[in-house]
Formats: sequence, C-alpha cells, structure tokens
Amino acid sequence: MQLKFGSFPIVVVSSPEMAKEILQTNDHNFASRPALAAGKYTSYNFSNMSWAPNGPYWRQARRIYLKELLSQKRIDSYEYIRTEERRALISRLYALSGKETVIREELVRFTLTNITRMTLGGKYFYVSESDRSFSKVKLEELKEMVDDWFLLNGVFIIGDWIPWLNFLDLQGYVKRMKALNKKFNRFHDIVIADHKAKREAGKDNFVAKDMVDVVLQLADDPNLEVKLKIDGVKGLLQDPIVGGTDTSAIAMEWAISELLKQPQLLRKATEELDRVIGRDRWVEEEDIPNLPYIGAIVKETLRVHPVGTLLAPHLSTEDCKIAGYDILKGTTVFVNAWSLGRDPRYWEAPEKFLPERFFGKNIDVTGHHFELLPFGSGRRMCPGYRLGLMLVHSTLANLLHGFSWKLPDNVKPEDVEMEEEFGLTTHKKIPIVAVVEPRLSAHLYV
Ligand code: HEM
Repeated sequence: MQLKFGSFPIVVVSSPEMAKEILQTNDHNFASRPALAAGKYTSYNFSNMSWAPNGPYWRQARRIYLKELLSQKRIDSYEYIRTEERRALISRLYALSGKETVIREELVRFTLTNITRMTLGGKYFYVSESDRSFSKVKLEELKEMVDDWFLLNGVFIIGDWIPWLNFLDLQGYVKRMKALNKKFNRFHDIVIADHKAKREAGKDNFVAKDMVDVVLQLADDPNLEVKLKIDGVKGLLQDPIVGGTDTSAIAMEWAISELLKQPQLLRKATEELDRVIGRDRWVEEEDIPNLPYIGAIVKETLRVHPVGTLLAPHLSTEDCKIAGYDILKGTTVFVNAWSLGRDPRYWEAPEKFLPERFFGKNIDVTGHHFELLPFGSGRRMCPGYRLGLMLVHSTLANLLHGFSWKLPDNVKPEDVEMEEEFGLTTHKKIPIVAVVEPRLSAHLYV
C-alpha cells in the first residue's frame, strides 16, 4: 500500500511475500532509516545504531556490537549476570506471594538491571535511598526515560512530514525530546566519568571489562574507520538500554497474560517443566532446547503480539521496481509484523493463541520465515535477538516453574483485557495483575 505523508512517499508492507522482497531480495536498497526528529533529538543526531543511516558509520556500529556485546560468546559469558538477576527477581516475587502484583514493574526492573550490568558493567541506578550513591539515577527515573524514548520514537510528528511546519513544534514533542536528551546525557556522563576514572586508576595495566570501556577505547583510536565522537559513544551506549529492556519485558508480560487467559496452556507448560526439570532445581539456560512447549509459547507470543507492530522504518536509497510497482528513492517503508503473523494464508485461526501450532513445523523467529518477523530480517534485523530470546525463554520458564499463577479473586480468565497500546513498541494497555504462590521447596527461593 502506498501513501503520502505530506510530500513524502510511504509504503506499508503487510504480506510475507512483499516483506521478503523488501528485506531480503532488495535488502541493500532498504537498509537505511528516514531522518526523523526522534533520531535527531533522542538519539544523538542519528549517532546510535538504530537511527543511523545506511553507511560506514552504521556498519561500524553494528560490527562493534556484534563483536563486543551480542556475539554468542559474549552472551554466554554474561550468563552469570542473567542467573543472578533471575534469582533476585524470583526472591522479590517470593516476597510478594499471595499479593496482587503488577508484574510489568518487576519485569522491567529485571531487564534493565540485566542490560545495564551487561553493557555498562553495573546497574547505575538505585532502588531505595539506602542503596543510593551520589552518582546514580533512581530506577523509576531510568524506567521513565526508557518509556519516554519509546513513546517519542513512536509518535507521528507533523514536522517530520511537512518540514516547513517543523519550527512550530505543533505537538510539543520536539521540546519533550530535547528534555529527554538532557536526562540521558546526564546518565551517560555519569557512566562515562566513572569508567574513565577507573581506567585512569588502572593506568597501563587497564583491561577493558565492559562495553563502555571498549567504546571509550575505540573513541581514542585514530585508525578507526569512522571517528567515534562523544555523541557516537553515548548513542552506542543508549542502543541496548532502550533496545533490550522494554522489548523483552513486554514480550514476557504478553506471554503471562495469554497463559492466565487460558489456564489449560499454563497447566501444559508446568507439566513440561515438572517432567523435564523436576521440582528440586531451577531451569538453567542449557535446559531451554529441552522445553519445546515453552519455546512454542514464546514464538506464539511474538506472533500474536510482536513487540514492534510495525518494524522500525526502512528507507530506500535508490529507485527500484518491486512486484511491478515503482518505488522511489527516499520512500519510507513500514513492514507490518502484526499483519504478517495474522495472514490467514499462512496461519490457521490466526486470532487464536495456540502454541501447539508450531509443533512439527520448522518456523522460527530468526528472519528466515517472512510470516513471522518479530525481530525483522536482513541487514537491519535486530542485532540483539539472541540475547532477547535468551532472556525471555529462561525467565519465562523459571517464572512458570517457580510459581503457580492466578488472577485476582474477582477477575475471570475471560475478563482479562488484551487491548494493545501502539507505539514504536506495542505493550498491553492495561498491565496484568497476578497473584503468585511458590511451587518448589522453600529453600530454593532464598
Ligand atoms: C524480545 C526482545 C527484542 C525484540 C522483540 C526486538 C525487536 C526489534 C525490532 C523489530 C527491530 C527493528 C528491525 C528492523 O528495523 O527491521 C530491532 C532493532 C534493534 N534492536 Fe531489538 N529487539 C529485542 C531485543 C533487543 C536487545 C536485547 C538489544 C540489545 C541489547 C536490541 C537492540 C536493537 C538495536 C540496536 C536495533 C537497531 C538495529 C539497526 O537499526 O541496525 N534489541 N529490534
């Protein structure tokens, strides 16, 4: 479908065949991003990976990430962080046993802690006053910054499409973006200053320990293909914080909500966990391949509730012809992942949440099956998909293994609201409230 926003051509892709044309056959031509206000004001003037246009800077950024944070080796080396944080999440939920709990709050805290520890080498936020050190930002503040980033990156800004109205900032979003950028600047300044001080203290024996150390070293490297300035450093540190936290937490909240709506699916999941894991230990990451039902729940969640209803916008850099249609250079393309996962030619009863549909089918979420693209496909595909999947699989499995899940007494499964709130990510409009009770022996929770 071709539209015009102001004077700019827009194409919306809603079928797997056309998604393949854009993201595979003509991937080289659609691997850029439009220059929208969000990229300018919330992402260091397009200096992060997500908003950088196709070119040497973006390729270098992806290379750095895929080597230093998101390679299988690095992901494996951070397993101890994920395990520690999962235990902390389980203890917090254990303390909340029997109470009505807004699970989203706990999940976002969990993913933020994981990502900041893996990327920045520490949490860099505090939860309670007793935990406070002068150099850290409060958890709620950081969560709000991430939420705002997603909101402001998903809104329709009139000035993006009618540039002569830009200076009026009619909706006030650009003002909000600039304010958000100030907050992120403060956060990144603290992190960078702390790392520089440690490097200084270590002098010649200093060894890079985390992503921040690596990026700061690269910024000092005169031979780097594209010079990394301070905006680039901050942009690259921001990518995983925004890209890896809300996304994984949203997926887990949707999965839990779907299971609470259909308790028979929850029972099947716990039967599998009891059979494969038993009641006297937690699920480890190496167990995941042996838990096909949990795997199917994750796939089905990402099919019915892709975290990005529309993938991030792609931009064509050359005129081209696709399926007989002329697509001009400078066309913004939105791939509708939500529609792909509901195409009735590929999915039977697409509206139903039915994990079993994946049994005996060779369909995965790694960008090769165009009817299921929760992470996109091709050059711009999510570079964090392995880490995201690892977080979602292992956490969901442990939450279902460690607790029995119920709705509050006055809520029936059929009453659970599944309304979506659209933006750059699509989360559940009304957060799910659940009551958990431990399923395993008490000593495992302390
Ligand atoms: C369940 C978890 C996640 C989901 C569903 C998800 C989904 C996505 C999607 C749909 C895109 C856009 C693809 C496109 O433009 O075609 C994307 C891009 C991106 N994601 Fe993720 N993501 C997740 C986890 C992560 C994690 C853990 C990280 C990093 C630690 C990350 C970092 C990024 C970055 C940096 C981009 C932009 C890539 C580029 O433009 O080159 N994501 N993600």
